[in-house]
Amino acid sequence: MKRLALLLCLAATAALAHQGVQNPAVMARMHAMKDIAGQMKLLGGMAKGATAFDASAAQAAAAVITQKAAATKDLFRAQEDDPKSEALPAIWADYADFEAKADALTQAAQAATTVATAEELAAAMSALGATCRDCHRAYRE
Ligand code: HEC
Repeated sequence: MKRLALLLCLAATAALAHQGVQNPAVMARMHAMKDIAGQMKLLGGMAKGATAFDASAAQAAAAVITQKAAATKDLFRAQEDDPKSEALPAIWADYADFEAKADALTQAAQAATTVATAEELAAAMSALGATCRDCHRAYRE
């Protein structure tokens, strides 16, 4: 079943960085990141005015990020590796710090679940983006 789910997942998202990943634990955490990035893209379009601002869609996307960001802490806890992984071993040298960075994203996303205007969304996006960069700079190749 797990394999089938992975295959379906691959079929739905062809040609991604994580194609060819063999460790399902690594695949799962990459998928969580990918989902977060997908919601960020949707929000970014609205914040820039490329797509019409829709408060309930924006709040729903922020809620998905909140939930996936919270799940990140469990998805990365075990030190799993894969040749395709971009995760740095430093994550597991100080896991509490990694968790704090995941919490920062969770909190920024939670705050974004109440945005009511495109301006508020733009401000929330820069707070969110800062948490991505902060963690990636420390823990992603
Ligand atoms: C707590 C740390 C942390 C936070 C916060 C974080 N990331 Fe990541 N992200 C990682 C790590 C570590 C990897 C590498 C995972 C791997 O390759 O095993 C990663 C990988 C990714 C990937 C590549 C996934 C793939 O398919 O290989 C994307 C896209 C991504 N992150 C987007 C985001 C975005 C957008 C945000 C902010 C909204 C974010 N991340 C916040 C740690 C974080």
